[in-house]
Amino acid sequence: MSTVLITGASGGIGYELAKLFARDHHNLVLVARSADKLAQVAAELRAHGITVKNIALDLATPSAPKFLFDQLKGESTAIDILVNNAGYGAFGEFAQMPEEEILGQISLNITALTELTHLFLPPMIARRSGRIMNVASTAGFQPGPLMAVYYATKAYVISFSEAIANELRDSGVTVTCFCPGATHTGFARRAGTEKSRLFKKLGAMGAEKVALDGYRVVMEGRTLAISGAHNWLVAQSTRFAPRKMVTAVSRWVAERVD
Ligand SMILES: NC(=O)c1ccc[n+]([C@@H]2O[C@H](COP(=O)([O-])OP(=O)(O)OC[C@H]3O[C@@H](n4cnc5c(N)ncnc54)[C@H](OP(=O)(O)O)[C@@H]3O)[C@@H](O)[C@H]2O)c1
Repeated sequence: MSTVLITGASGGIGYELAKLFARDHHNLVLVARSADKLAQVAAELRAHGITVKNIALDLATPSAPKFLFDQLKGESTAIDILVNNAGYGAFGEFAQMPEEEILGQISLNITALTELTHLFLPPMIARRSGRIMNVASTAGFQPGPLMAVYYATKAYVISFSEAIANELRDSGVTVTCFCPGATHTGFARRAGTEKSRLFKKLGAMGAEKVALDGYRVVMEGRTLAISGAHNWLVAQSTRFAPRKMVTAVSRWVAERVD
């Protein structure tokens, strides 16, 4: 039985992914900040006859990734699949954004994801087997006025994941960058984007369907995948349209409407 570590598993896409891995009898290590929600999820998923460890941790704190790695190493828990899913965005113009929100997004979406990958990868390489799933976003394919930092963090995740997937191509370890578009989860509430054109007018996908897409592509070992045909089309269109136009449309989509 393999063991899967999922960050951000207390709700949203991470929780739906955890259910899929549990259904296929993978043991789980679930991480998020909310201890109570995690305990609930763990109790629910143990019904599949698997081992579920829940670790409440704020991954945006600098010591958290190493703490998590050391704790699992100390318990001789080997991680076969690492799912770097925890992430968040914050709405607002960059100049007015509180510094803690800027650094918080970078710490969680970039630093923790990179450090966890760096820590858990060597044992996978040594075993010549493993999977890493980095959850980026369709936001990573263009600049995002009004969510400049969030979009930039997701561009990093795409670039980083594709690069290391190439480096690891003969190692037995696959790296999958999975890009959801707008999805109904707790994300929009925390980001302050519930009233954006994207969520109010253009529509979002269900988390269950998005997670199923993600689960399939990570098990296939695909390098880059976008959830939803409409999201795939939009991501392709940004490659050919003038960048100023792409950025202007991106702003229009992010703007709040009544
Ligand atoms: N929903 C969308 O529209 C959308 C679109 C594209 C990409 N994504 C990406 O998909 C991923 C999952 O997002 P989601 O939509 O499922 O959002 P969500 O419902 O807000 O879930 C986020 C998860 O991350 C955990 N988390 C947040 N901050 C954390 C921290 N500092 N340390 C540890 N865990 C933390 C949350 O749990 P706690 O609050 O308990 O910590 C929760 O389990 C993110 O990377 C997001 O950027 C989302």
